[in-house]
Amino acid sequence: MAAKSGASPHQNEVTPPESGAPPVRGAEPMPTPAAPAPFRPGLEGVPATQSAICDIDGQRGLLTYRGYPLEQLASNSSFLETAHLLIWGQLPTIFQLRDFEREVQMHRRVSFRIRDMMKCFPAGGHPMDALQASAASLGLFYSRRALDDPKYVFDAVVRLIAKIPTMVAAFQLIRKGQDPIQPRDDLAYSANFLYMLTEREPDPVAARIFDSCLILHAEHSLNASTFSARVTASTLTDPYAVVASAVGTLAGPLHGGANEDVLEMLEQIGSVEAVEPWLDQAIKAKKKIMGFGHREYKVKDPRAVILQGLAEDLFLRFGHDPMYEVARRMEAVAAERLGPKGIYPNVDFYSGLVYRKLGIPRDLFTPIFAIARTAGWLAHWREQLGANRIYRPTQIYTGSGERSWLPLENRPAAV
Ligand code: COA
Repeated sequence: MAAKSGASPHQNEVTPPESGAPPVRGAEPMPTPAAPAPFRPGLEGVPATQSAICDIDGQRGLLTYRGYPLEQLASNSSFLETAHLLIWGQLPTIFQLRDFEREVQMHRRVSFRIRDMMKCFPAGGHPMDALQASAASLGLFYSRRALDDPKYVFDAVVRLIAKIPTMVAAFQLIRKGQDPIQPRDDLAYSANFLYMLTEREPDPVAARIFDSCLILHAEHSLNASTFSARVTASTLTDPYAVVASAVGTLAGPLHGGANEDVLEMLEQIGSVEAVEPWLDQAIKAKKKIMGFGHREYKVKDPRAVILQGLAEDLFLRFGHDPMYEVARRMEAVAAERLGPKGIYPNVDFYSGLVYRKLGIPRDLFTPIFAIARTAGWLAHWREQLGANRIYRPTQIYTGSGERSWLPLENRPAAV
C-alpha cells in the first residue's frame, strides 16, 4: 500500500523533469516583438514544447513510447505497464508494477455522489460529455492541490487511471435505466472494464485485444487534446481539470470523434462495389474522408496497421464482419486517389471495427479512447510541471482600429 504508507517506489523516483528532458525555459532566443514568428494556422510545424515521452516518424510510420516501439508494447506489455512507462519514464520493476496494479484496483470505485450526479444527466447526452463532467467533478472530491508532493501526484494518477473506466461504464448502464455495477477485484484492468460495461465476464482473447487497443491509444505526442492538457496543466490547476479539458478536446470529429464517423461512413457505403463511386463523389465534393489523413503521418498510421491485425484476430475467433471488406476496398481505392497527397488510414479507421466486434456501442468509442489517452495526458501533466511556464502565445490582431462608443440612437441601422 505504498501510496498510503508514503513508501511507494514511485514516490522515490525522480519527480519531473523527466530523465533526458532538457529544461525548456530560455532554450531558444525568443523573437522580438518587432519580428513576430510567422503565423502558422493550426500551429503546423511549430514546436510548442519539448518532450521525452513519445516520438513519431511520420515519413516511415514509426511510433515509440519512451523509446520502445509501439509494436513491441502492443504485443508484450499490458495497458497498466505501458501507462507506468509513459507516466514515470521507465518500464516498472515487478514490484512497481504489482504496486501500481494494486493501487489502481483499490481505487476503481467512484463515489455514490458521482453516480447520483450521472443519474441526472440526460440519457440521450453524449457519453463524452458525461465523462468530461464526471472527470471534472473528481476535483470536488480531491480538492487538495499539492503539485510538488510526489504522493499527491501518484494518488492523482492512480485515481484518474482507475476511475475513468468506471465512470464510462457507469454512464452506459445508467442511461439504459440500470444501476452501475461495481468493479470486480479478481479481474484485470481491461477485463474489469468490459465486465462493468456488458455485465458479463469477457472472453480472455477479447480482453487481451481490448488491452492492446488501450496501449495503441495511450499516447501520441502533442496532438490537440494533449496540447489542451498541457495548456491547462501550465496554469497549475488540478489534474482532474487537466484531464477534463483534454476529454472535451478529444471529443471533436477531427480528433477522437472520427472513429464513430468511420463506421457510419462504411455503413452508408454499404458494399464493396459502392466504394469507388462513393469515394470519387466524396473527393469531387471536397469532403474529408473520416479515418484518413494525419498531420504527422504521410504513410499509413502504424496504429492502423496493428489495429487491422487485431480486427482480423477478432474475426477469426468471433466471426467475420462484412464491413471489413468495405474498409479494405476503401483503403485500396483511397491509396490511389489520396495516397499521392500523403493521405492514408489513421488510427480511427480500423478501431471502430474492432470495438464493434467486441460489442461496444458506437458512441463509447471515443470515451474508450479517453480511457487510454488518460495515461498520455498524465505523462504530459507531469512533464509540464517539471519545467513549467504558463502557455501564453501571441496573436496577429486583424480587427478594427480604435473607435468611439456610440449611444444606441446614434448607431447606423444594421445592413
Ligand atoms: N480526406 C480527404 N482529403 C483530406 C483528408 C481526408 N481525410 N485529410 C486531409 N485531406 C486533404 C485536405 O482536403 C487538404 O487538401 P488541399 O491541400 O487540396 O486543400 C490537405 O489534405 C491537407 O488537409 P488539412 O485538413 O489541412 O490537414 P490537417 O493536417 O490540418 O488535418 C486531419 C489533419 C486529421 C484533421 C485531417 O486529415 C482530417 O480531417 N481527417 C479526417 C478526420 C480524421 O480521421 N481524424 C482523426 C485523426 S487521427
